[in-house]
Amino acid sequence: MDRLLIRGGQPLTGEIAISGAKNAALPILCASLLSSDPLHLSNVPQLKDIITMQRLLEQMGVTIERDGEHGLVLDSAGLNNPLAPYDLVKTMRASILVLGPLLARHGEARVSLPGGCAIGARPVEQHIKGLQAMGAEIHVEHGYIHARVGRGLHGARIITDMVTVTGTENLMMAAVLAEGETVIENAAREPEVVDLANCLVSMGAQIAGAGTDRIRIRGVKRLHGASHAVMADRIETGTYLCAAAATGGHVRLTHTSAAYLDVVVDKLLDAGCDIIVEREAIILQAPARLKAVSLRTAPYPAFPTDMQAQFMAINCIADGSAIIRETIFENRFMHAVELIRLGADIRIDAHNAMVTGVDHLEGATVMATDLRASASLVIAGLMAQGETLIERIYHLDRGYEKMESKLSQLGAAVQRVR
Ligand code: EPU
Repeated sequence: MDRLLIRGGQPLTGEIAISGAKNAALPILCASLLSSDPLHLSNVPQLKDIITMQRLLEQMGVTIERDGEHGLVLDSAGLNNPLAPYDLVKTMRASILVLGPLLARHGEARVSLPGGCAIGARPVEQHIKGLQAMGAEIHVEHGYIHARVGRGLHGARIITDMVTVTGTENLMMAAVLAEGETVIENAAREPEVVDLANCLVSMGAQIAGAGTDRIRIRGVKRLHGASHAVMADRIETGTYLCAAAATGGHVRLTHTSAAYLDVVVDKLLDAGCDIIVEREAIILQAPARLKAVSLRTAPYPAFPTDMQAQFMAINCIADGSAIIRETIFENRFMHAVELIRLGADIRIDAHNAMVTGVDHLEGATVMATDLRASASLVIAGLMAQGETLIERIYHLDRGYEKMESKLSQLGAAVQRVR
């Protein structure tokens, strides 16, 4: 199993390009199921999760061709097997995103129920309730969601119990081919939802309000082919900003935008960083010592849960104490115990973590438990004295394209070892 060996203490300096957003690309790949015409995508990141989604779509009858390093052409004309098997769903929960489009286009779907995952139980009952409101008959049997619809989906007013990102995306994709109007209330406002909506609109869908908590979709008879460039990954951007901040670095991140990173940029400014925002780039200069910054995760536009672990890492060596409150997932502090192994002072009390900055961290062997936890361990390893060996880095490969080569480009001493 691959591991990452980091020799810490090197300030990150220089320039790297940010990749396309994993969490936008995944639903957009599923949107290809909604039309029998080809969907041309660019800026698709090369990641394990994207390959898993490609395999899932291919076994349904979708043909996928590569177009250069970051382009894909998906053709769903031959869609014939509306099944998402357990083997694929268990490795990637985002597989649930095929449910809405399959029902809308094919009238039936069999999707393995995703189990819990390291960061929380993550049920999908909101996806199911919403599709039922649109006329789908759904029952769960032998661990599979069996969904079918007799005479097509119809529009409905759906109010989700909580803000759910993939739930909103699934319902939006189902609604684009439903008869009549669907209104999703309490919709997720995440930029990735907007990117999916933009792609669907370019395929002929009628969607208003994406990016607000009320999305209105007027169903159309069919969608056509389109070309779409996936948005930049705001979480990858934020992760490299934290890595630079943590190491006293000075970096310029290109092919990205600060437009969706308001709170993250504000927190880095509070921590004492200098940040210059360009149209498609962000420059960060770290201070001599970071100041501790408290935060509370919540749905967009508030502080993203996907950046919580990275900020916990930078608080470990900051001046002062910070309280980090996680409100989205019930078990998303697993990185804390690993950071403590590197010398961090962190106390967990239910959904709060109290981090008191120490002078320095010391390298050790640590274990990655999920994607963003892994990113926080990389940041910690970069700032620790001596060598840090991170085990189970397959988590990183799911969501960070070429992380070790991007870090090396910025001067870090990082090496993948077996
Ligand atoms: N929830 C329910 N029932 C549902 C749906 C959600 O109880 O039917 C709960 C979840 O258990 C969670 C909260 O609602 O406590 C929010 O979950 P959400 O549905 O928004 O999460 P998701 O759609 O499964 C996406 C991202 C995650 C990101 C979250 C929150 C994708 C593919 N995944 O997950 O990304 O953390 O939104 O922003 O878009 C990551 O990239 O590392 C990652 C975990």
